[in-house]
Amino acid sequence: MAENLGRVADFSPDDEVMLQDVLRGLALPEKNIPSLYFYDQRGSELFDTITEQPEYYPTRTEIGILERHGAEMAAALGPGARLIELGSGSALKTELLLARLEDPAAYVPVEISREHLLAAAARIAADFPGLEVLPVTADFTEPYELPEPTRRRVERNVAFFPGSTIGNFPRPMAADLLANTCREVGPGGAMLVGVDLVKDRETLERAYNDDAGVTAEFNLNLLVRLNRELGADFDVGAFAHRAVWDDDAARIEMRLISTRDQRVTVAGQAFDFAAGEVLVTEYSHKYTPEAFRALAEGAGFALARTWTDPDGLFSVHLIEVPG
Ligand code: AVI
Repeated sequence: MAENLGRVADFSPDDEVMLQDVLRGLALPEKNIPSLYFYDQRGSELFDTITEQPEYYPTRTEIGILERHGAEMAAALGPGARLIELGSGSALKTELLLARLEDPAAYVPVEISREHLLAAAARIAADFPGLEVLPVTADFTEPYELPEPTRRRVERNVAFFPGSTIGNFPRPMAADLLANTCREVGPGGAMLVGVDLVKDRETLERAYNDDAGVTAEFNLNLLVRLNRELGADFDVGAFAHRAVWDDDAARIEMRLISTRDQRVTVAGQAFDFAAGEVLVTEYSHKYTPEAFRALAEGAGFALARTWTDPDGLFSVHLIEVPG
């Protein structure tokens, strides 16, 4: 193990939390399961494959923005940053930023999928031998302790939240998450956040209904996981994937549609699905730059800069806590 890689701080939720979330969501008149549970090892791998699909524009577009404007972002963040990545996944975009940051104090990846976290933390520690890497397994929406670097003083806490994961939270929860992050980074702290922009229905629906069926497999893998980890008995072949753009709510809704009347049992509790009934597995909210600015300001941040791609598909915002 590289000597700049710290021990993993473990704040991962236990299976009981997942069971209660799933039972609660399935009991609602409009059934849903939180999208957080997509990310077991297979789900994380499938998500990585989604990002390579030609229809899924967010990842490559955001990478383009980071490549083009990363130096300006790093200059705006300044030296000695403790970079805290929320939901770091494979942390592929992080390297673009780390390579440009001046003398960062530490990199703190926070990720719920332990295998993904360990692999990414080890890779970054190897690629940046002078950087202290302090991984945390946690659901980043729940409290966890920020590890302290041992080698360099922290000049500024910087939360990095790329990928438009903010869009997977209903707007009030996104506001809470920003407010919590504002408190966590503290006065003078900053957040660099990737946000997918509102655009035409066709582009959006194609991105979430790729021809190769990877997003469909990602969606259905949630049921595979619940069968394995919670002893549920979903007939995975009796649900169909469909993602739909809701213009009024400005969000993609990921659905699993029951293809027949059926009863599913989870931990001894039965849930009936009618043919055609929808189980919502994810929302992916999109923002206009103005709407995101209002959200960030409501949470206590001030907008410092916004970068977008030439086609106006995606945005990266630097928001700061007045110091
Ligand atoms: C992780 N998150 C930002 C992705 C999104 O686009 O909302 C998850 C995803 N769901 C289906 N495709 C990708």
